[in-house]
Amino acid sequence: MCGIVGYVGPQNALDVVLEGLRRLEYRGYDSAGVAVRVGGSGGGQLASAKKAGKLANLEKVLADQPLPESTIGIGHTRWATHGGPTDRNAHPHLSADGRVAVIHNGIIENFAALRAECEAAGVEFRSDTDTEVVAHLLAAVYPELPEGPGRLAEALRAVSRRLEGAFTLVAAHADEPDTLVASRRNSPLVVGVGDGEYFLGSDVAAFIAHTREARELGQDQVVEIDRTRGLTVTDFDGAPAEPVAYTVDWDAAAAEKGGHDWFMLKEIAEQPQAVADTLLGRLGDEGDLVLDEMRLSDQELRDIDKVFVVSCGTSYHAGLIAKYAIEHWTRIPVEVEVASEFRYRDPVLDRSTLVVVISQSGETMDTLMALRHAKDQKARVLAICNVNGSTIPRESDAVLYTHAGPEIAVASTKSFLAQIVACYLVGLILAQVRGIKYADEVAVIVRELQKLPEAVSQVLGQMEPVRELGRSMADAGTILFLGRHVGFPVALEGALKLKELAYIHAEGFAAGELKHGPIAVIDEGTPVVVIVPSPRGRSLLHGKVVSNIQEVRARGARTIVIAEEGDEDVVPYADHLIRVPRTPTLLAPVVTTVPLQVLACEIAATRGYDVDQPRNLAKSVTVE
Ligand code: M6R
Repeated sequence: MCGIVGYVGPQNALDVVLEGLRRLEYRGYDSAGVAVRVGGSGGGQLASAKKAGKLANLEKVLADQPLPESTIGIGHTRWATHGGPTDRNAHPHLSADGRVAVIHNGIIENFAALRAECEAAGVEFRSDTDTEVVAHLLAAVYPELPEGPGRLAEALRAVSRRLEGAFTLVAAHADEPDTLVASRRNSPLVVGVGDGEYFLGSDVAAFIAHTREARELGQDQVVEIDRTRGLTVTDFDGAPAEPVAYTVDWDAAAAEKGGHDWFMLKEIAEQPQAVADTLLGRLGDEGDLVLDEMRLSDQELRDIDKVFVVSCGTSYHAGLIAKYAIEHWTRIPVEVEVASEFRYRDPVLDRSTLVVVISQSGETMDTLMALRHAKDQKARVLAICNVNGSTIPRESDAVLYTHAGPEIAVASTKSFLAQIVACYLVGLILAQVRGIKYADEVAVIVRELQKLPEAVSQVLGQMEPVRELGRSMADAGTILFLGRHVGFPVALEGALKLKELAYIHAEGFAAGELKHGPIAVIDEGTPVVVIVPSPRGRSLLHGKVVSNIQEVRARGARTIVIAEEGDEDVVPYADHLIRVPRTPTLLAPVVTTVPLQVLACEIAATRGYDVDQPRNLAKSVTVE
């Protein structure tokens, strides 16, 4: 996710801002930029610099063309969403007259309409971003407001009221020598309060070197930091608001992880947001789906008669879940295959085949090679990817980005949940466009999708017993995972997480396969984790899994059962019961996966391993 820094105070703003950006590097980014305000109160100017790539690239630009000393500065590290990771798309974005500079984290859903409005007024855009529209809107509103204190904040309130989506915005104006303003909706922003100086940050890591006194902003609020008038917070209509004050008790290293011991834990905690952001901007007013950005026409979607889902590791497991949903919703046959096998067996592909490649990094060589093979065979390729501008989406015919934000830990967590959600969107758009489901039927499922962030939050809120359980399982030699239907890929994912993090032998099985061999490995005390389908609607499946739990328990297994609230049938057979909220069967993996991630993380940490950097593994595997 983008990193945001703002500073107003006696120090050289550029130094403070660059240091803040360095501390936010862990968030992941693909370009960086800064702006400072220079000049006296009479006639000021904004000066800015920005560059694609790492901070070092920006620092080189600044070394060649230094910016003047200043007491006001803003800085940004960008994680590309709208528009590729290029110099021109890097933030800050300036208004046409150069008087306003804006940085932004999030997605402005209605930017296309606002951009059209600005263009109709004669504005020429210089980037492909959704952000630039804010700079132009602010420049248009500001002169219409009365001169005097609070003018820029009032302009930002007026603009913020017009925006849809998720945003943290920070703005500077050349005519404002002492003031920065910021606003937030569904996107993080914290204020640091120092001695005669103020900071803005996407998180406290941005200013922890200067102050531990922080203020948390509420939803839909605008903050003004001013060297003489201090801190003022209002809602978008101007009603005063009181920010929550707190003292940060983390050191700089912990601050980067949001107070969590590991990036993986932080990323697990970010999953409600990742799911919500992946849905953001994709739902029409009628509850239908709008995936214009996908770049596949309705006719192309109608022509598809077969789908392949191709990916590796955790992304492959997302593909396995996709199969259940896409086949059920569309009745189009779906095959799922690991990318390293796909092209070498000469799969049958043609123009009416849709190949969905899933990759968090967008750089996995096995997946890239499979994509190229599919394109050679004239199939249509749709990428589901988390990294804007990476190779896989670039080479695909169409792309659907997951908006999970940067994933630092090697083990995929939030990107997995976001991939599953993106797969649901693919299934639903196919069903919608092909007329297999009526709009109101799609809307019903969409409403269930919208409940998922809250359901994931609920699971996260009750993970302490799971952590305790993990600590008690740290000495296990083998751990098995069982599931049926969509619970089967979840079992595979649970086993993969445990292998890669805790180096324990773990396997996931289709629960029905157990009696065909694997049950022989169960010994006294062998932990067996079972993902139980909902008893509602899939009662046949549910009964069979309950029988499978009894079978392993009869052979001495220690059963760890993940079951939805209200499922009392499992209670007698569960040595440990992990409850998840009631969720429709096809959507259940989004909630049932979460305890398995926490379990693997806790077991690995108890065994003393580096959770974020497991041995032998790389985040992005760029060799075949
Ligand atoms: O970046 P990708 O999604 O293409 O990566 C695929 C796999 O390498 C990846 O999912 C890997 O299995 C993860 N480390 C699992 O946690």
